[in-house]
Amino acid sequence: MTEIAFLLNGTPVRLRDIAPTRTLLDWLREERGLTGTKEGCNEGDCGACTVMVTDAQGARALNACILFLPQLHGKAVRTVEGMAAPDGRLHPVQQAMVDCHGSQCGFCTPGIVNSLVAAHLTGETDHDTVLAGNLCRCTGYAPIIRAAEAARQATPPDWVRDDPSSFAFSEIPSGGSGGADSPPGAAIPRSVDELADWYAANPDGRLIAGATDVGLWVTKGLRDLGPVAFIAGIPDLQGVSVTEDEIRIGAATTIADLRRALAPFHPDLAEMLRRYGSTQVRNAATIGGNIANGSPIGDGPPALIALGATLHLRRGGARRSLPLEKFFIDYGKQDRQPGEFVEAVSIPRQPDRLKCYKLSKRFDQDISAVLGAFSITVENGRVTAARIAFGGMAGTPKRAAGAEAALLGAEWSEATMNAACAALRADFTPLSDMRASAGYRMEAAIGMLRRYWLEDQGLAPRVLEIEA
Ligand SMILES: Cc1cc2nc3c(=O)[nH]c(=O)nc-3n(C[C@H](O)[C@H](O)[C@H](O)COP(=O)(O)OP(=O)(O)OC[C@H]3O[C@@H](n4cnc5c(N)ncnc54)[C@H](O)[C@@H]3O)c2cc1C
Ligand code: FES
Ligand code: FES
Repeated sequence: MTEIAFLLNGTPVRLRDIAPTRTLLDWLREERGLTGTKEGCNEGDCGACTVMVTDAQGARALNACILFLPQLHGKAVRTVEGMAAPDGRLHPVQQAMVDCHGSQCGFCTPGIVNSLVAAHLTGETDHDTVLAGNLCRCTGYAPIIRAAEAARQATPPDWVRDDPSSFAFSEIPSGGSGGADSPPGAAIPRSVDELADWYAANPDGRLIAGATDVGLWVTKGLRDLGPVAFIAGIPDLQGVSVTEDEIRIGAATTIADLRRALAPFHPDLAEMLRRYGSTQVRNAATIGGNIANGSPIGDGPPALIALGATLHLRRGGARRSLPLEKFFIDYGKQDRQPGEFVEAVSIPRQPDRLKCYKLSKRFDQDISAVLGAFSITVENGRVTAARIAFGGMAGTPKRAAGAEAALLGAEWSEATMNAACAALRADFTPLSDMRASAGYRMEAAIGMLRRYWLEDQGLAPRVLEIEA
C-alpha cells in the first residue's frame, strides 16, 4: 500500500507511506491540529473521539482512537471542526446543544455532537442507544437528550449531506492492494480472491477487520503488528444473504448490519446485539472478528451456535466448513491454519425459538460475564431439538451437552427443566475473575435456563429490558 485517499471535512487528503497502524485520532491531533477530537480512554469505551465516517453504505459514528488511517481509504470523515457550515453557521445539533445547555466542561461534547449528527442524518431517534458509547461525566444526559429531540425535525444541512458525492474516491487504487507481490507492510485487498492470495503469501500476517480488538493491541499493548491486511471494505466479505434454506453472513459484516438483518428472523438476537459494545463499536466490529478472536466471552458465537451455525473458512483456493462450535478447540486455540481466514458463517432457516440472555455489570457497553443462548423446539408437548450454548462458562464458547441430552425427547415440563438444570451443573466448570465468581456464573446460567422455560410459559417478565 503506497497511498490512501479520503475526504476530511470535505477536502481531499492523500497520504503516502504512512504507518499502517497510525490511528485517525493521533493523526488528526498531531498532524492536522484538529484537537476538537478528544482522547479519553484510547480504547473505544468513552466516545470522546467519535467522528462521522460516510461511504457507500451511509454515514456512521466511529471511534477515531481505534480506527487506523488505511480503514478510511475511499471514505469521507467529518470531525467536529467540519460540522458547522463553511460560513460558521452551526449544525442544527450543535445549535440545539447550545440552546438546551447540553455541555458543561465540554470534553465529551465533540464526540456527542458527532454521534448525534450521524444519527440525525440516518434518522435514528433512539437517542439512549445512540449515546450509549458517549460518556459525559458532568452535564447529565437529560439536557443532551433534549437537544437531540430539539434538532430532530431540522433537515440535515447540505454540507454534511454532500459527503456521499465523494464516492469517486473508492475508485482510487490503493497502490499495492493485495496481490502476492504486494510490498511488505500493508495491503487493502479489493476482493476475497486478493485476500486469499495475500494471506497465502503472508501466513504470519495480521488481518484487520473492524480493529475493535486489534486497535487496543496497538494503543494499549504498543504492539508492532508486522504485515497487515485491511479486510473490512472487501465487498464480497460483507453483507447478509437470505435464501429459503439459510442465512449467510459475510465475515466482514458489521455487528450493526447483522443486527438489522437478523431482526426479522431472530428478534431476540437483534435485541441482545443492541447491548454489544456501543453504537460506535457495533459500526466497526465484524462478526468474522468476533469469531476469529476466539474469545470465550464474545457475544456472537453462543447465539450463532444455538442456531446451528456453520463456519466457512478459506485458505488460498481451498475452502472448508465446520460446525461453529468445533472451531473453538480450547482457550486461545482455534481450528484455523496459518493463512486461513473466516469467509462467512451461515445459519439454517428455522422457526424462531431463540432467546439470548446477556449478563453484565452494566446494561450498555459492557463485556458479558455470562451469555446464554437457547433454542429449544417443542412438538406435541415434547422436546424435539435443543441447542444451548454459553459464553463466559468455559475457556471457549461451549454447548451444554448434558442439559441438551436431558431435554431431548422429554416432556416439556417443569420436571424436565429441573433435570436439565441439574445436568447443566456437570456441563461446566466456570472460572472466577473480575467479572464474576465461578459460583455466581453457575447459578446465573441455571437461572437463564429456567428463565427460558418460564418465558415460554408466559410467566417471566423481562425485567432488565423494561423501558420507561
Ligand atoms: C469498547 C468495546 C466494547 C466491546 N464490547 C463487546 C461486546 O459487548 N461483546 C463482544 O462480543 N465483543 C465486544 N468487544 C470486542 C470486539 O468488538 C469484538 O471482538 C469484535 O467483534 C471484533 O471484531 P473486529 O472486526 O473489530 O476484529 P479485529 O479487531 O479487526 O480482529 C480481531 C481478531 O480477529 C482476526 N480476524 C478478523 N477478521 C477475520 C477474518 N475474517 N478471518 C480471520 N481472522 C480474522 C484479526 O486478525 C484479529 O486477530 C468490544 C470491544 C470494545 C473496544
Ligand atoms: S478516546 Fe475513548 S473511545 Fe476513543
Ligand atoms: S460536559 Fe463535561 S464530560 Fe460532558
